[in-house]
Amino acid sequence: MVRVAVFISGGGSNMVSLLDDMAREGHAGTPCVVLANSANAGGLARAAERGVPTAVVDHRPFAGDRVAFEAAITTALEPYAPDMICLAGFMRILTAGFNDEWAGRMINIHPSLLPKYKGLHTHARALEAGDKRHGCSVHEVTATLDDGPILGQAEVPVLEGDTPETLAARVLVQEHRLYPAVLRRFVTGDRSPLLLQS
Ligand code: GAR
Repeated sequence: MVRVAVFISGGGSNMVSLLDDMAREGHAGTPCVVLANSANAGGLARAAERGVPTAVVDHRPFAGDRVAFEAAITTALEPYAPDMICLAGFMRILTAGFNDEWAGRMINIHPSLLPKYKGLHTHARALEAGDKRHGCSVHEVTATLDDGPILGQAEVPVLEGDTPETLAARVLVQEHRLYPAVLRRFVTGDRSPLLLQS
C-alpha cells in the first residue's frame, strides 16, 4: 500500500474526500497521517473521526523561517513513514528544498484551470476576466508555485450572476470528484492527465 500523508489548513473537505475514497475496497493508497499547520484546522476532527492519526505543526512560532518550519514537518512525519503527500487546501508556501525532497511524490489541488490563475483569489479573477469556464486542477508540486505537471482537471460553467462564493461552491463539488479520482490513478503509477466533465 502507498502511505499517503494529507496536509490541510482549514475545513479539510478535500482531505475527507480523499480519506473516504481510500477507505473503499481495492484502493492502493492508505492514509497514514493528516497534518495541519494550525490546531484550529477543522479538518483535524474529521480525520480523527475516520481513525486517521493527526499531527499539528503550527507555522507561527517559526516566524517566517520556512526551512525550520519544514524541518519540524519532516520530524512530525517520520513516525508515519509516508510515501507521498497530498496538499489539500494547505495554505503555506513550501520551499524549493522541501519540494525537491518530495519531487514526484507530492501533489496539490488548486481551484482554477491551470495554468490560469495561480496563487490566490482564483474565483474572483475568473469572474473579472469574464471566463465562461472555470474549474480545478490537480498537479505535481514542483519548485514553482502551482506550476507542476497537470494530473487532472474538472471544468464547471460560469453562470450569469455568479459571485466568487457561488462559483467556489460549484468548483468545490468538482474538487471532491477530481482529487480522489487522480489519487487513485497516481498511487498505481498512472500520471496521464484526467479530464472530468461536469
Ligand atoms: C480548496 O478549494 C482548495 O482547492 C483550495 O483551498 C480550498 C480548501 O478547502 N486550495 C488552494 O487555494 C491552494 N492554493 P478544503 O479545506 O475544504 O479542502
